[in-house]
Amino acid sequence: MPDELVTLTIDGVPVSVPKGTLVIEAAKQAGVLVPHYCYHPGLPVAGLCRMCLVDIEKAPKLQIACATQVAEGMVVRTQSPQAKSGRMGVLELLLINHPLDCPICDQAGECELQDFTFQEGRPATRYSPDYAKRFNPVEDFGPDVLYVPNRCILCTRCVRFMEDVAKEPVLNVSERGDRAYIGIHSEGRLDHPWAGNVVDLCPVGSLLSKDFLHKARAWELDKAASICTGCSQGCNVTLDTRENVVVRVRPRPNLEVNRYFICDHGRMNYRWMNRGDRIEAPLVRRGGGSELHATDWDEAFDVVASRLRGAGGKAVALVSPKASTEALYFARELFRGLEWSGAFQVVMGEEAPLAGVPNLALRAERAPNGRGAELLGYSRDYAAAVAAAETASVVLVLDEPDIAVRTAGALIYVGTVLPERARDAQAVLPIANVAEEEGTFVNRDGRVQRYFQAKSAPGMARPAWWVFSELVATLGGGGGGGGGGGGHVGTAAEAFDRLAASVEAFRGLSYPQLGFAGAAAPAVAVPA
Ligand code: SF4
Ligand code: SF4
Ligand code: FES
Repeated sequence: MPDELVTLTIDGVPVSVPKGTLVIEAAKQAGVLVPHYCYHPGLPVAGLCRMCLVDIEKAPKLQIACATQVAEGMVVRTQSPQAKSGRMGVLELLLINHPLDCPICDQAGECELQDFTFQEGRPATRYSPDYAKRFNPVEDFGPDVLYVPNRCILCTRCVRFMEDVAKEPVLNVSERGDRAYIGIHSEGRLDHPWAGNVVDLCPVGSLLSKDFLHKARAWELDKAASICTGCSQGCNVTLDTRENVVVRVRPRPNLEVNRYFICDHGRMNYRWMNRGDRIEAPLVRRGGGSELHATDWDEAFDVVASRLRGAGGKAVALVSPKASTEALYFARELFRGLEWSGAFQVVMGEEAPLAGVPNLALRAERAPNGRGAELLGYSRDYAAAVAAAETASVVLVLDEPDIAVRTAGALIYVGTVLPERARDAQAVLPIANVAEEEGTFVNRDGRVQRYFQAKSAPGMARPAWWVFSELVATLGGGGGGGGGGGGHVGTAAEAFDRLAASVEAFRGLSYPQLGFAGAAAPAVAVPA
């Protein structure tokens, strides 16, 4: 049954929202952001900071928008003189003891106290310059969290996250009144596998990530929507880059996958994206020689194509479950007409659920696209594929730096770095990593999700889907055995269209349709 709708007016804009909606959420529909601190859509309502005061017609006094439900015919004014004055008073109280730390605070530039003070606060303090502000020393709360009490506005978002979402209540509000601060259990640490979310939830610079401490100012960062590669959950993330270096990973809200959170394993899983020891040019072996020579893409494609044309019988692809769906598709197309087998291996770890959110956990399977590889026909029997490689006429290795493959045939290595074993390859083709290309992953529940480019690839490295699609085109459209068709592929979107047109599990999907939130692959059952 559809939700019963309630119609109200917010700052003169009529909106209709489901019964039970909070005024602060209804205001978003009207394009109005009501200032707030303690409210967060991923946490239980606390209603304690009073920053969201609004004027509601016929109500005897100002109401808090975060704990007031909409009613039919309600008239809300966020900009009335009374509402503005109420919020200005709240800000004045919050700032009494707040230090002038902005020049050295990591939160500056993305701080809600700065933003709302600029938008709503008094132009100057009414306190004497001689007033001695409260001072408490910085505390070490856990492996990646520092607490700076002087900046704390006691919104309790961090306390509620640990208590109601992580279900590990190690934080509390200690003391009362202007002596209050966030305390940590005497034997507790903020070392829960999802504890890093308190840093994102803190609206000011009171909880800080040690990993990000003083690395960059917020306004220096470029941001790209991406998907975490840490496990098969497929959490939506933002990659923050500074001068072409990934410096921070933060959650990107997706109510279907990770709500507003990511785990600490995923948060810290980015340094490899900045590795400096990358392959920057294609390498080929000329005329049966023993050395690899750097070359251009044309010669590299010719060398690989001639090997594939001369191949017969078995071909084996050992692929990474961190490769994009598009790359895995074209890697398969390359061997059309040959006796093909493909496999991937997954590193396993401990599962760590976020207790307060159903179906959200750091998954034991530490790879983002095992499901995508399966949908494209790759098997999990990696050992059998490695054994088959010994007698195959051609073996393709995609992005597996720890390869342990022996073959009597031709080895084609496609990767970001050059492992010792890959020096036996006939050709080495340099590819972009996940931060340097566009593509899709399919998470464990069969949700197809796009990731976007965050930084440029080094040297001549190119996205793997481009490398394989060019090889397919060089071979006349259909790999070692010929056949197929379709010509060159210019963009990741076109690569995905090719895949969706020929693989049933992706039929009907396209990049515009996937957008930033993704969609379920049609042929895959997604749990409710
Ligand atoms: S540390 Fe941050 S999140 Fe926690 S109560 Fe203080 S201001 Fe709020
Ligand atoms: S649960 Fe998995 S996908 Fe989500 S942030 Fe953690 S490692 Fe990344
Ligand atoms: S946001 Fe409404 S009282 Fe804090």
